[in-house]
Amino acid sequence: MTSSEHKASSPRIVLGVAGGIAAFKAVELLRRLRELGYFVSPILTPDATHFVGALTFSALASEPARTSLFNDPSTPIPHTYLGQNADLIVVAPATAHLIARYAAGLANDLLGATLLASRAPVLLCPAMHSEMWEQPSVQENLATLRRRGVMILNPDVGLLAGGDVGAGRLAEPETISNLVSALLAETAHGPLANKRVLISAGGTREPIDPVRVITNRSSGRQGFALAEVAARLGATVTLVSCATLALALDVQRRVEVIYVDTAAQMATEILTRTAQSDVVIMAAAVADFTARAATNKLKKEDGPPALELEPTQDILVELGKRRHEGQIIVGFAAETDNALERATQKMKRKNCDLMVLNDVSADGAGFDHPTNEVVIIERSGQTHSVSLRSKEEVSYEILTNVAALLTRGAS
Ligand code: CTP
Repeated sequence: MTSSEHKASSPRIVLGVAGGIAAFKAVELLRRLRELGYFVSPILTPDATHFVGALTFSALASEPARTSLFNDPSTPIPHTYLGQNADLIVVAPATAHLIARYAAGLANDLLGATLLASRAPVLLCPAMHSEMWEQPSVQENLATLRRRGVMILNPDVGLLAGGDVGAGRLAEPETISNLVSALLAETAHGPLANKRVLISAGGTREPIDPVRVITNRSSGRQGFALAEVAARLGATVTLVSCATLALALDVQRRVEVIYVDTAAQMATEILTRTAQSDVVIMAAAVADFTARAATNKLKKEDGPPALELEPTQDILVELGKRRHEGQIIVGFAAETDNALERATQKMKRKNCDLMVLNDVSADGAGFDHPTNEVVIIERSGQTHSVSLRSKEEVSYEILTNVAALLTRGAS
């Protein structure tokens, strides 16, 4: 097949190669990606060319390897051309320096500029010595990138340059190429392909004074699992999450995460995005009441404080009012008694398309558990019971129901 035929039909991958000894493995990765039929455009950083020759990549790739922002005979602006046309950007190896540049938004070479000039999903495959891998600066940069939706394939533990053994060895080219094809297949053909899904997660925190908050026992796990699985099924996902979850949970996939604290902040972030969303899922345990926070710290010697509480805005109710044609709105109902009846009433009152009933009194279900057991209630009254299983599997059930409703709406 010629490269022009590939251009017309194949997913386009930008393969970024940064300057580390593992750059030689990128040649094997390139070969595998080409065998899978992808159109691959290599970009080598100037440092990468100390380890491998651009000519080697040009010989195997769909078009000549690029190493510079300047003097490209095919286009005066290679970074936007490559960034805008990519279906996926893979950087292997991603060095500590490349990771830092990307986290900081630096565009001092063609690879950095292309990463910034693209909305395509990005997969980084780090490789470096264990001491570098374990540096807080490197891990914090990776956490920043993950929060922005960049996917990170952690390095293997094994033999490193110079004979050392430890964490930091580039994942095997076969592992990377398998992940790449799974990602491309999912996003292009998944049941939520081309859909925008907005999800809330976790419990909000209402301050009563500058140091104390009222919150609840939601762990955010179900919301994070929904975000991860929705992305896997092809959706473009935005997750609005309680800020305390930033340290505890990670999304590995292409998910934009926005952190909030209070119910009011969550309402603002959700409601400004609902018009552009095909699906909104309110998995968050939003506080029903907020306190009038004292300006100064409450003092113990003043005795138990009399808290003045006032109701928060019900985001789900507001979403129901703003619903647009074809949009699917999903609510969660955390109940402890008379669960099915209460959840069905709540669905009607809050005008949603699906209500996920969470019996939080059941063993292994609800708050702070890795597993959950739910009943998915449709507006028609039809119910689907999902027995105790991981929150990922529960997410899959919920999202499959959402996809079915979207298809029904569209037909
Ligand atoms: N919800 C919301 N905004 C609020 C409160 C709740 O959007 N201010 C959403 C939740 O995210 C969930 C659904 O409403 O999807 C139901 O939440 P739940 O706490 O079960 O219901 P409440 O309306 O708070 O009723 P109650 O606590 O009395 O059962």
